[in-house]
Order: sequence, then C-alpha cells, then structure tokens
Amino acid sequence: MVKYENGIFLDTGKIDEVKKYMGMGLIKGVTTNPTILLKSGITGGLEGVKKASQEIARIIGEYPLSVELTINDNPDKMIEQAREFYAWAPNINIKVPIHGPNGELDNVKVIHELSTKYKIPVNVTAMMSAQQCYLAAMAGATYVSLFCGRVNDMGHSATDEIKKIRQLLDAFGLESKIICASTREVSNVQEWLGAGGHIVTVTPELLNKMLIHPYSKETVQMFLNDAAKL
Ligand code: E4P
Repeated sequence: MVKYENGIFLDTGKIDEVKKYMGMGLIKGVTTNPTILLKSGITGGLEGVKKASQEIARIIGEYPLSVELTINDNPDKMIEQAREFYAWAPNINIKVPIHGPNGELDNVKVIHELSTKYKIPVNVTAMMSAQQCYLAAMAGATYVSLFCGRVNDMGHSATDEIKKIRQLLDAFGLESKIICASTREVSNVQEWLGAGGHIVTVTPELLNKMLIHPYSKETVQMFLNDAAKL
C-alpha cells in the first residue's frame, strides 16, 4: 500500500541522500527525471535506471517514487515503457510530460490510459501553468507537477499559479496532488506549501540549507562551552 502523504519530497537520484533524509523522517517521497539521474551519476542505460530506481524504491518503502519515461515518440511504446517501469517496484509512479517537445498531444491520451485502463499512478510533469495542471488532473493524474522555479524564471508568479490550481482541484473535486517542483530557494518551500501546494520537491542541498542555521550553530556552541564549565 503506497502512502500518498503531503509535505517534502526529495528531488534526487542520489541513494545516500535518500537514505540520510529518510532516516530523519523528513521526506514523504522521491522524484527523479533523466537529468537528475544523470547529475546523480547514474549510468548504464535503462538497466542503470532500473537498478537505481529499485534501490530508492526499497529505501523509501511505502512512500512514492516518480520515474520519468525516457521516450516521447510513440504512445504505444510509452505505455509499454510505463508498464515496464511500474513493474520494477510497487511504490513507483510514472512521470509523463504534459506534451512532447513539439507540443505532441498523444501524451495526454497516454496519461489518461495509464491512469484509467492500467491503474498506474501518473505524475504529469514539465508543466508551467495552472491550466495545464487542471487538464492533467482531468486526464487522471495522481500528481500534477508545476515547475515553479521555471515559472518564476519566466517572469510569472508560481504562487499565483499554485493558488489557481488548488482552487480548481477543490472546486471540481479532483483528487490530484500538486507537486511544486524546480525549487530554487529555501523560502520557496513555505511559500508554495502556504499557497496550496500539497508537496514541494527539493534537492538534498536545499533541504540541508533549510535545516542548518549559523545562529543555531553559535547557540549550540555556547551551550557546549558552558556545559563544560558546570
Ligand atoms: C521534479 O519533479 C522536477 O523534475 C524537477 O524539480 C525539475 O527541476 P529543474 O526545473 O530545476 O530542472
């Protein structure tokens, strides 16, 4: 049984980081994409992706792991690959971009078919607007990933988009959860959760920055110094 909990997901393919933050009880899932896996040092083609995904899926147990399709040219092959990835571990969900690199809309049919016919949880990814997220939710997405940092990079407001999506999901009784992705700054996490995001996915580096504060270091050092004088 997969636990679909809200909060923080880890945006990484680094096994040690997943172990570290799972051990602290801070993460409720893991998201990956081909770029993240590459940056995390995963090689060996699909076999490498399978090995890393199965290892992460095992470490996080009942929490969900998003694994993205590596092809975007043929809907039948995309469904076949999604079914193959889904069979790797029971807590895997499949990331499918909202459309192809040239706006190919077969992706939406793939999302719908995976969600309804095959009952495979889908994380619809690479979305930049509330309207895309709303349509992805209509198609059956379990997760709708808004690339908030990229939205802000384009001069728009991610928080406004998050509020709009949440309103639409609630108004229409859609059960998809909003994953706020492309997180760039520590302040994004509270901002986006406060705006109505269910989940913010963060890199290990960012989570580390959230935890450690220079003044906390100084304060703890003071306690230790004084403890030694007691
Ligand atoms: C997570 O689901 C996304 O794939 C990831 O956060 C994207 O990050 P980026 O926009 O920094 O590449």
